[in-house]
Amino acid sequence: GTSTPASATSPTGVLSYEGIDPRVAENFTTPLRKPGTEGLFGILDLGAGPLTLSADSGKMAIFGDRSVPVRLYNSQSGGRNYQNPVLKISKDLSCDVTFRNNLDQPTTVHWHGLLVPGSVDGSPLNPVAPGASYSYKFSVNNRGGTYWYHPHPHMHTAEQTFAGLSSFFIVEDAHDLALRQAMNLTLGDTELPLLIQDRRCNEEGELDYSPDDMEKMMGYFGNVMLVNFTPNPALDVDTRFYRFRVLNGSSIRTYKLAFENNGNPLKFHVVGTDGGLLDKPYEVPDVYLAAAERVDIVLDLRSARPGDVILLKSLAFDPKDTHMPSPAFGTSLKPGEAFTLMKLVVRNLVDAGGALPATLSSLPALPSASDKIRTLQPARNASGDWVMKIDGVDTLYDMNDFPIVVKKNAVEFWDFKIGSAGMPHPIHLHGFLFRVLSRTGTPPEVAAQSVDASGRMVTDLGFKDTVLVWPGETVRVAIDFHHCFGAEEHYMVHCHVLEHEDMGLMTNVKVIA
Ligand code: C2O
Ligand code: CU
Repeated sequence: GTSTPASATSPTGVLSYEGIDPRVAENFTTPLRKPGTEGLFGILDLGAGPLTLSADSGKMAIFGDRSVPVRLYNSQSGGRNYQNPVLKISKDLSCDVTFRNNLDQPTTVHWHGLLVPGSVDGSPLNPVAPGASYSYKFSVNNRGGTYWYHPHPHMHTAEQTFAGLSSFFIVEDAHDLALRQAMNLTLGDTELPLLIQDRRCNEEGELDYSPDDMEKMMGYFGNVMLVNFTPNPALDVDTRFYRFRVLNGSSIRTYKLAFENNGNPLKFHVVGTDGGLLDKPYEVPDVYLAAAERVDIVLDLRSARPGDVILLKSLAFDPKDTHMPSPAFGTSLKPGEAFTLMKLVVRNLVDAGGALPATLSSLPALPSASDKIRTLQPARNASGDWVMKIDGVDTLYDMNDFPIVVKKNAVEFWDFKIGSAGMPHPIHLHGFLFRVLSRTGTPPEVAAQSVDASGRMVTDLGFKDTVLVWPGETVRVAIDFHHCFGAEEHYMVHCHVLEHEDMGLMTNVKVIA
């Protein structure tokens, strides 16, 4: 084609790619980029042997045909080239990644959600200088699940991730393979990783990361939606089960995911969260997904009809629960606004067989007692800087300081707390997965969201590494510090709004043997 990428102001005043309003589903015509056997998001088997991975500046056509500057992970394997490979490995295998930083800034590869030693966790504590290499060798101790990797250099995480660096790390185990088999799924086809990101696109059709002071403080929203780097994506589907491993790779935006068939709400099943499969499938009408969270979704299209148009949407929710007003929203998709993420068009009547199993995995009972309780509260100090209040004390981020020290095998309860005048923050812990025990003070609209029989939100079930805390809430999580690979291990806990992380809404955590 010869289309010239450009952004324009749509009749509704929303700046978007070529003036296409992402709230108008008819505009969705770009084939979704599906993970294949090579190329962008190609599926790469990490268990097959050592791998080299680099972070590079490059060019790629995202909006139309014109190549624009991006930053991507590159790898070569078996004579094939990969960008942002979907890394896949079985639980208990070892991976051996030699990473090279070809950027002009320090970077790291953070293996988000993996239970690995601090030295190979890719946190800002172990930066890789421009031109330098780093060896990430570890064994995969996680349950099967959808994890991911992204850069994490001190103060530059947001801009590097925004420019394209991030992809999936899929761990497979017996439960995971059983589900795939029971539903006759194929990874890359009927089982699809979906990376959802809002991005700001400028007049030249380039990715534009230029937060002003307010946006550095309050988070950087985009004006276009991308799924696997595809704007306005469309996907042909048949009448069968689909599994979507959804990752919110946005800087700050929270989505309220839902499906619609020819305009009617279409329920779906949540089968997994950050740390893999739940005990059983939970049927829900919608689900909130905050930055860095994952949700594993099964969509049953067996009773759909050829010609049906199914939309994956983000539903409207009260913006005051999302974000404080910022001047930038005048030209952006507003927080909490409804829009379409992807269009699915039903093509063929098929009988793919398969069933959604009643049991998916087993989850241990929730811890009932703790060795220690701590309170962590994102807050702004007297000079307006983001700080983590730890047990009531404002604690400015200092890379050399470890305000939280935990003994190996301790079980701790941490209360993540946000004042009622605050904004939502997705809180992420490195090195360990946790269980959500309770939420108190939840805004009614959020509380009304899909819950299990005992009243817990579906996205709070299972093992988590990131949890969204809404204004007025206290979310209690239980963390079992069950490993310490060396004499001591260094991790961190932080807000996963990338601008907040870069501004130091973060605290180091030391685990001692
Ligand atoms: Cu996904 Cu500390 O980050
Ligand atoms: Cu935050």
